Amino acid sequence: MHPISKKFEELFGSGPEVIAAAPGRVNLVGEHVDFLDGFVLPFAMKDLTIAAISKNNDAVIRVASQQRSGEIFEVAVEKLEPLTGEPWTRYPIGVVWALGIKSGLNILIDGQVPLGAGLSSSAALESSVATALNHLFDLKISKPNLSLAAQRAENVYVGMPCGIMDQSVSIMAHEGFALLIDCRDLSTQDIEFNIEPAGLELLVIDTQVHHALVDGGYAQRRASCEKAVAVLGITSLRDISVEDFVARKAELDPTTYSRAFHGVSEMRRVLDGVAALKKNDFETFGKIVTQCHQSLRDNYTISCPELNVAVDTALKFGSLGSRLIGGGYGGSAISLNKKSDTEKIKEEISKAFLANNFAPPRFFTSQPSAGARLIN
Ligand code: GLA
Repeated sequence: MHPISKKFEELFGSGPEVIAAAPGRVNLVGEHVDFLDGFVLPFAMKDLTIAAISKNNDAVIRVASQQRSGEIFEVAVEKLEPLTGEPWTRYPIGVVWALGIKSGLNILIDGQVPLGAGLSSSAALESSVATALNHLFDLKISKPNLSLAAQRAENVYVGMPCGIMDQSVSIMAHEGFALLIDCRDLSTQDIEFNIEPAGLELLVIDTQVHHALVDGGYAQRRASCEKAVAVLGITSLRDISVEDFVARKAELDPTTYSRAFHGVSEMRRVLDGVAALKKNDFETFGKIVTQCHQSLRDNYTISCPELNVAVDTALKFGSLGSRLIGGGYGGSAISLNKKSDTEKIKEEISKAFLANNFAPPRFFTSQPSAGARLIN
Protein backbone atom coordinates (compact mmCIF):
# COMPACT_ATOMS: atom_id res chain seq x y z
CA MET A 1 0.00 0.00 0.00
CA HIS A 2 1.38 3.45 -0.92
CA PRO A 3 1.97 5.55 2.24
CA ILE A 4 -0.43 8.26 1.01
CA SER A 5 -3.31 5.72 0.99
CA LYS A 6 -3.24 5.35 4.76
CA LYS A 7 -3.41 9.08 5.37
CA PHE A 8 -6.14 9.37 2.74
CA GLU A 9 -8.18 6.74 4.54
CA GLU A 10 -7.71 8.53 7.87
CA LEU A 11 -8.91 11.80 6.38
CA PHE A 12 -11.73 10.65 4.14
CA GLY A 13 -12.85 7.33 5.61
CA SER A 14 -11.86 5.08 2.68
CA GLY A 15 -8.85 4.70 0.40
CA PRO A 16 -8.17 6.54 -2.90
CA GLU A 17 -9.37 5.20 -6.25
CA VAL A 18 -6.32 6.54 -8.08
CA ILE A 19 -2.84 7.83 -7.21
CA ALA A 20 -0.68 9.72 -9.70
CA ALA A 21 2.71 11.40 -9.44
CA ALA A 22 4.27 14.19 -11.48
CA PRO A 23 7.73 15.77 -11.31
CA GLY A 24 9.10 19.29 -11.01
CA ARG A 25 11.51 20.45 -13.69
CA VAL A 26 14.93 21.90 -14.32
CA ASN A 27 15.17 24.02 -17.45
CA LEU A 28 18.49 23.72 -19.28
CA VAL A 29 17.93 26.52 -21.77
CA GLY A 30 14.94 28.38 -23.23
CA GLU A 31 13.76 30.70 -20.47
CA HIS A 32 10.72 32.97 -20.84
CA VAL A 33 10.08 31.95 -24.43
CA ASP A 34 7.39 29.30 -23.96
CA PHE A 35 4.66 31.95 -24.17
CA LEU A 36 6.31 33.31 -27.33
CA ASP A 37 5.87 30.16 -29.43
CA GLY A 38 9.53 29.39 -28.71
CA PHE A 39 11.62 26.27 -28.15
CA VAL A 40 12.55 25.18 -24.63
CA LEU A 41 14.78 22.41 -23.31
CA PRO A 42 13.82 21.35 -19.77
CA PHE A 43 14.04 17.97 -18.08
CA ALA A 44 11.89 16.39 -15.37
CA MET A 45 13.44 16.05 -11.90
CA LYS A 46 13.07 12.95 -9.81
CA ASP A 47 11.22 14.90 -7.08
CA LEU A 48 7.49 14.26 -7.36
CA THR A 49 4.17 15.62 -6.26
CA ILE A 50 1.64 12.89 -5.54
CA ALA A 51 -2.12 13.23 -5.87
CA ALA A 52 -4.48 10.63 -4.40
CA ILE A 53 -8.11 11.01 -5.46
CA SER A 54 -11.50 9.35 -5.09
CA LYS A 55 -15.02 10.37 -6.10
CA ASN A 56 -17.59 11.26 -3.44
CA ASN A 57 -21.37 11.52 -3.64
CA ASP A 58 -21.60 14.86 -1.84
CA ALA A 59 -21.07 17.15 -4.86
CA VAL A 60 -18.20 18.72 -2.92
CA ILE A 61 -14.48 18.99 -3.74
CA ARG A 62 -12.43 18.34 -0.61
CA VAL A 63 -8.69 19.06 -0.84
CA ALA A 64 -5.98 18.45 1.73
CA SER A 65 -2.19 18.42 1.67
CA GLN A 66 0.33 16.51 3.75
CA GLN A 67 2.36 19.74 3.79
CA ARG A 68 -0.59 21.63 5.37
CA SER A 69 -1.15 19.20 8.24
CA GLY A 70 -4.04 17.57 6.41
CA GLU A 71 -6.49 20.46 6.94
CA ILE A 72 -9.44 19.87 4.59
CA PHE A 73 -10.66 22.68 2.30
CA GLU A 74 -14.11 22.30 0.74
CA VAL A 75 -15.96 23.84 -2.16
CA ALA A 76 -19.25 22.77 -3.76
CA VAL A 77 -18.83 21.44 -7.32
CA GLU A 78 -21.44 23.97 -8.48
CA LYS A 79 -19.51 26.87 -6.92
CA LEU A 80 -16.10 26.52 -8.62
CA GLU A 81 -15.01 30.06 -9.35
CA PRO A 82 -11.59 31.16 -10.71
CA LEU A 83 -9.40 33.18 -8.31
CA THR A 84 -11.32 32.09 -5.21
CA GLY A 85 -10.46 29.83 -2.27
CA GLU A 86 -7.29 29.24 -0.27
CA PRO A 87 -4.47 30.11 -2.73
CA TRP A 88 -2.69 26.73 -2.87
CA THR A 89 -5.97 24.84 -3.41
CA ARG A 90 -6.60 26.82 -6.61
CA TYR A 91 -4.02 24.65 -8.42
CA PRO A 92 -5.72 21.25 -7.90
CA ILE A 93 -9.26 22.67 -7.98
CA GLY A 94 -8.36 24.66 -11.11
CA VAL A 95 -7.51 21.38 -12.85
CA VAL A 96 -10.89 19.88 -11.86
CA TRP A 97 -12.50 23.02 -13.29
CA ALA A 98 -10.37 23.01 -16.48
CA LEU A 99 -11.28 19.38 -17.15
CA GLY A 100 -14.98 20.17 -16.65
CA ILE A 101 -15.47 17.48 -14.00
CA LYS A 102 -18.82 17.71 -12.24
CA SER A 103 -18.43 14.95 -9.63
CA GLY A 104 -17.62 15.42 -5.96
CA LEU A 105 -13.98 14.50 -5.19
CA ASN A 106 -11.69 13.84 -2.25
CA ILE A 107 -8.10 14.89 -3.04
CA LEU A 108 -4.96 14.49 -0.94
CA ILE A 109 -1.67 15.97 -2.10
CA ASP A 110 1.85 15.10 -1.01
CA GLY A 111 4.25 17.58 -2.62
CA GLN A 112 7.95 16.69 -2.54
CA VAL A 113 9.07 19.27 -5.10
CA PRO A 114 10.68 22.17 -3.18
CA LEU A 115 8.25 25.11 -3.05
CA GLY A 116 9.17 28.53 -4.46
CA ALA A 117 12.55 27.23 -5.64
CA GLY A 118 11.94 27.83 -9.36
CA LEU A 119 11.53 24.07 -9.89
CA SER A 120 7.87 24.26 -10.82
CA SER A 121 6.18 22.71 -7.85
CA SER A 122 2.97 24.25 -9.20
CA ALA A 123 3.08 22.40 -12.52
CA ALA A 124 3.95 19.18 -10.67
CA LEU A 125 0.82 19.65 -8.57
CA GLU A 126 -1.40 20.42 -11.57
CA SER A 127 0.05 17.58 -13.63
CA SER A 128 -0.36 14.97 -10.90
CA VAL A 129 -4.03 15.93 -10.44
CA ALA A 130 -4.63 16.06 -14.21
CA THR A 131 -3.06 12.63 -14.72
CA ALA A 132 -5.09 11.11 -11.88
CA LEU A 133 -8.38 12.60 -13.14
CA ASN A 134 -7.67 11.56 -16.74
CA HIS A 135 -7.49 7.99 -15.49
CA LEU A 136 -10.29 8.16 -12.91
CA PHE A 137 -12.85 9.46 -15.42
CA ASP A 138 -11.38 7.60 -18.40
CA LEU A 139 -11.14 10.91 -20.26
CA LYS A 140 -8.56 9.63 -22.80
CA ILE A 141 -7.02 13.09 -23.08
CA SER A 142 -3.69 13.10 -24.95
CA LYS A 143 -0.58 14.25 -23.09
CA PRO A 144 -0.26 17.58 -24.96
CA ASN A 145 -3.94 18.35 -24.31
CA LEU A 146 -3.60 17.36 -20.66
CA SER A 147 -0.67 19.82 -20.41
CA LEU A 148 -2.87 22.53 -21.95
CA ALA A 149 -5.66 21.83 -19.44
CA ALA A 150 -3.18 22.12 -16.56
CA GLN A 151 -1.89 25.38 -18.01
CA ARG A 152 -5.46 26.71 -18.35
CA ALA A 153 -6.01 25.92 -14.67
CA GLU A 154 -2.99 28.03 -13.79
CA ASN A 155 -3.74 30.86 -16.25
CA VAL A 156 -7.41 31.27 -15.40
CA TYR A 157 -8.14 29.66 -12.04
CA VAL A 158 -4.88 30.68 -10.32
CA GLY A 159 -4.39 33.87 -12.37
CA MET A 160 -0.76 33.30 -13.35
CA PRO A 161 -0.14 33.91 -17.08
CA CYS A 162 2.47 31.13 -17.38
CA GLY A 163 3.48 29.44 -20.61
CA ILE A 164 3.25 25.75 -21.40
CA MET A 165 6.78 24.54 -20.60
CA ASP A 166 6.39 23.30 -17.03
CA GLN A 167 3.19 21.31 -17.48
CA SER A 168 4.45 19.80 -20.77
CA VAL A 169 7.71 18.52 -19.37
CA SER A 170 6.05 17.33 -16.17
CA ILE A 171 3.64 15.25 -18.25
CA MET A 172 5.73 14.27 -21.28
CA ALA A 173 9.36 13.78 -20.15
CA HIS A 174 11.28 10.52 -20.44
CA GLU A 175 13.99 9.24 -18.13
CA GLY A 176 17.52 10.05 -19.29
CA PHE A 177 16.43 12.75 -21.74
CA ALA A 178 15.84 16.46 -21.80
CA LEU A 179 12.68 17.37 -23.70
CA LEU A 180 12.92 19.77 -26.62
CA ILE A 181 9.45 21.31 -26.77
CA ASP A 182 8.21 23.38 -29.66
CA CYS A 183 5.76 25.54 -27.73
CA ARG A 184 3.97 26.52 -30.93
CA ASP A 185 2.50 23.07 -31.56
CA LEU A 186 3.67 21.10 -28.49
CA SER A 187 5.63 18.64 -30.60
CA THR A 188 8.55 17.22 -28.63
CA GLN A 189 11.88 15.52 -29.18
CA ASP A 190 13.88 13.60 -26.59
CA ILE A 191 17.43 14.96 -26.40
CA GLU A 192 19.99 12.81 -24.68
CA PHE A 193 21.52 14.55 -21.67
CA ASN A 194 24.03 11.94 -20.69
CA ILE A 195 26.64 13.95 -18.81
CA GLU A 196 27.90 11.27 -16.45
CA PRO A 197 30.29 9.52 -18.86
CA ALA A 198 31.88 12.94 -19.45
CA GLY A 199 32.49 13.23 -15.67
CA LEU A 200 29.95 16.03 -15.38
CA GLU A 201 27.15 16.78 -12.99
CA LEU A 202 24.25 19.23 -12.93
CA LEU A 203 24.15 21.09 -9.64
CA VAL A 204 20.97 22.90 -8.60
CA ILE A 205 21.53 25.81 -6.22
CA ASP A 206 18.40 26.92 -4.39
CA THR A 207 19.07 30.50 -3.26
CA GLN A 208 16.19 30.18 -0.76
CA VAL A 209 14.93 33.52 -2.00
CA HIS A 210 11.30 32.71 -2.50
CA HIS A 211 9.63 34.14 -5.50
CA ALA A 212 5.91 34.50 -6.08
CA LEU A 213 5.19 34.38 -9.78
CA VAL A 214 1.63 35.57 -9.40
CA ASP A 215 3.31 38.97 -8.81
CA GLY A 216 3.56 41.45 -11.67
CA GLY A 217 7.12 41.12 -13.06
CA TYR A 218 6.43 38.00 -15.10
CA ALA A 219 3.27 39.41 -16.67
CA GLN A 220 4.89 42.78 -17.43
CA ARG A 221 7.74 41.16 -19.31
CA ARG A 222 5.40 38.92 -21.21
CA ALA A 223 3.39 42.03 -22.12
CA SER A 224 6.57 43.77 -23.39
CA CYS A 225 7.25 40.87 -25.74
CA GLU A 226 3.66 40.96 -26.97
CA LYS A 227 4.00 44.70 -27.52
CA ALA A 228 7.14 44.13 -29.65
CA VAL A 229 5.19 41.64 -31.79
CA ALA A 230 2.38 44.18 -32.28
CA VAL A 231 4.65 47.15 -33.05
CA LEU A 232 6.78 45.16 -35.50
CA GLY A 233 3.66 43.74 -37.15
CA ILE A 234 4.91 40.15 -37.01
CA THR A 235 3.03 36.99 -35.98
CA SER A 236 5.46 36.05 -33.21
CA LEU A 237 9.02 36.66 -32.01
CA ARG A 238 9.61 33.15 -33.31
CA ASP A 239 9.17 34.48 -36.83
CA ILE A 240 11.95 37.05 -36.86
CA SER A 241 15.69 36.34 -36.98
CA VAL A 242 18.05 37.94 -34.47
CA GLU A 243 19.58 39.97 -37.32
CA ASP A 244 16.24 41.31 -38.61
CA PHE A 245 15.14 42.11 -35.06
CA VAL A 246 18.31 44.09 -34.34
CA ALA A 247 17.90 45.96 -37.63
CA ARG A 248 14.48 47.20 -36.46
CA LYS A 249 15.68 48.41 -33.05
CA ALA A 250 14.64 52.03 -33.68
CA GLU A 251 10.96 51.00 -33.91
CA LEU A 252 10.82 49.92 -30.26
CA ASP A 253 11.27 51.76 -26.98
CA PRO A 254 14.42 50.64 -25.12
CA THR A 255 12.66 48.49 -22.49
CA THR A 256 10.49 46.70 -25.04
CA TYR A 257 13.52 46.16 -27.26
CA SER A 258 15.76 44.64 -24.62
CA ARG A 259 13.06 42.33 -23.21
CA ALA A 260 12.06 41.12 -26.65
CA PHE A 261 15.72 40.80 -27.67
CA HIS A 262 16.06 38.28 -24.87
CA GLY A 263 13.21 36.28 -26.41
CA VAL A 264 14.54 36.33 -29.96
CA SER A 265 18.12 35.49 -28.97
CA GLU A 266 17.04 32.85 -26.44
CA MET A 267 15.19 30.88 -29.11
CA ARG A 268 18.39 30.72 -31.12
CA ARG A 269 20.35 29.64 -28.04
CA VAL A 270 18.03 26.67 -27.55
CA LEU A 271 18.63 25.39 -31.08
CA ASP A 272 22.39 26.01 -30.79
CA GLY A 273 22.35 24.23 -27.41
CA VAL A 274 20.57 21.20 -28.85
CA ALA A 275 23.12 21.04 -31.69
CA ALA A 276 25.95 21.12 -29.12
CA LEU A 277 24.33 18.37 -27.01
CA LYS A 278 23.87 16.17 -30.06
CA LYS A 279 27.67 16.33 -30.51
CA ASN A 280 28.29 15.82 -26.77
CA ASP A 281 30.01 19.22 -26.90
CA PHE A 282 29.42 20.20 -23.29
CA GLU A 283 31.92 23.08 -23.39
CA THR A 284 29.86 24.89 -26.02
CA PHE A 285 26.63 23.92 -24.29
CA GLY A 286 27.93 25.39 -21.03
CA LYS A 287 28.78 28.69 -22.73
CA ILE A 288 25.25 28.89 -24.11
CA VAL A 289 23.83 28.27 -20.62
CA THR A 290 25.90 31.17 -19.26
CA GLN A 291 24.86 33.46 -22.14
CA CYS A 292 21.28 32.69 -21.18
CA HIS A 293 21.97 33.95 -17.65
CA GLN A 294 23.60 37.12 -18.96
CA SER A 295 20.57 37.81 -21.12
CA LEU A 296 18.10 37.14 -18.30
CA ARG A 297 20.13 39.43 -16.04
CA ASP A 298 20.86 42.29 -18.46
CA ASN A 299 18.14 42.22 -21.13
CA TYR A 300 15.19 40.63 -19.37
CA THR A 301 16.22 41.96 -15.91
CA ILE A 302 14.80 39.19 -13.73
CA SER A 303 17.89 38.19 -11.77
CA CYS A 304 18.65 39.14 -8.17
CA PRO A 305 21.88 39.51 -6.14
CA GLU A 306 21.68 35.97 -4.71
CA LEU A 307 21.31 34.38 -8.17
CA ASN A 308 24.17 36.48 -9.57
CA VAL A 309 26.50 35.55 -6.70
CA ALA A 310 25.64 31.86 -7.15
CA VAL A 311 26.29 31.97 -10.91
CA ASP A 312 29.45 34.11 -10.73
CA THR A 313 30.94 31.93 -7.99
CA ALA A 314 30.16 28.70 -9.83
CA LEU A 315 31.83 30.06 -12.98
CA LYS A 316 34.83 31.30 -11.02
CA PHE A 317 35.41 27.83 -9.59
CA GLY A 318 35.26 25.85 -12.80
CA SER A 319 31.61 25.60 -13.88
CA LEU A 320 31.20 25.07 -17.64
CA GLY A 321 27.95 26.99 -17.58
CA SER A 322 25.67 28.47 -14.97
CA ARG A 323 22.43 30.43 -14.93
CA LEU A 324 19.24 31.24 -13.08
CA ILE A 325 16.32 29.02 -14.04
CA GLY A 326 12.55 29.48 -14.06
CA GLY A 327 10.62 32.64 -13.37
CA GLY A 328 13.50 34.60 -11.81
CA TYR A 329 13.76 37.07 -8.89
CA GLY A 330 14.89 34.16 -6.70
CA GLY A 331 14.50 30.41 -6.78
CA SER A 332 17.30 28.30 -8.21
CA ALA A 333 20.35 28.48 -10.42
CA ILE A 334 22.05 25.56 -12.18
CA SER A 335 25.70 24.80 -12.76
CA LEU A 336 27.04 22.25 -15.22
CA ASN A 337 30.39 21.23 -13.83
CA LYS A 338 32.88 18.44 -13.44
CA LYS A 339 31.72 16.08 -10.73
CA SER A 340 35.09 16.55 -9.08
CA ASP A 341 34.45 20.32 -8.81
CA THR A 342 31.00 20.08 -7.23
CA GLU A 343 32.10 20.10 -3.58
CA LYS A 344 34.42 23.07 -4.09
CA ILE A 345 31.73 25.02 -5.95
CA LYS A 346 29.18 24.32 -3.20
CA GLU A 347 31.64 25.38 -0.52
CA GLU A 348 32.57 28.60 -2.32
CA ILE A 349 28.94 29.52 -2.99
CA SER A 350 28.09 28.96 0.69
CA LYS A 351 31.04 31.14 1.69
CA ALA A 352 30.05 33.89 -0.75
CA PHE A 353 26.46 33.83 0.55
CA LEU A 354 27.70 34.19 4.11
CA ALA A 355 30.02 37.06 3.14
CA ASN A 356 27.06 38.85 1.52
CA ASN A 357 24.75 38.22 4.47
CA PHE A 358 22.42 36.04 2.36
CA ALA A 359 20.54 33.13 3.92
CA PRO A 360 22.38 29.81 3.34
CA PRO A 361 21.67 28.18 -0.05
CA ARG A 362 20.57 24.56 -0.53
CA PHE A 363 22.10 22.23 -3.09
CA PHE A 364 20.74 19.28 -5.08
CA THR A 365 22.03 17.35 -8.02
CA SER A 366 19.53 16.32 -10.58
CA GLN A 367 19.22 13.91 -13.47
CA PRO A 368 16.56 13.66 -16.16
CA SER A 369 13.69 11.53 -14.89
CA ALA A 370 10.33 10.31 -16.17
CA GLY A 371 7.18 12.42 -16.49
CA ALA A 372 3.79 11.95 -14.82
CA ARG A 373 2.59 8.42 -14.13
CA LEU A 374 0.04 6.40 -12.22
CA ILE A 375 1.15 4.71 -9.01
CA ASN A 376 -0.31 1.46 -7.71
C1 GLA B 1 7.63 29.89 -15.15
C2 GLA B 1 6.42 29.62 -16.05
C3 GLA B 1 6.85 28.96 -17.36
C4 GLA B 1 8.00 29.70 -18.01
C5 GLA B 1 9.10 30.00 -17.01
C6 GLA B 1 10.17 30.87 -17.59
O1 GLA B 1 8.18 28.68 -14.71
O2 GLA B 1 5.51 28.79 -15.41
O3 GLA B 1 5.75 28.86 -18.23
O4 GLA B 1 7.54 30.87 -18.65
O5 GLA B 1 8.61 30.63 -15.83
O6 GLA B 1 10.81 30.23 -18.65
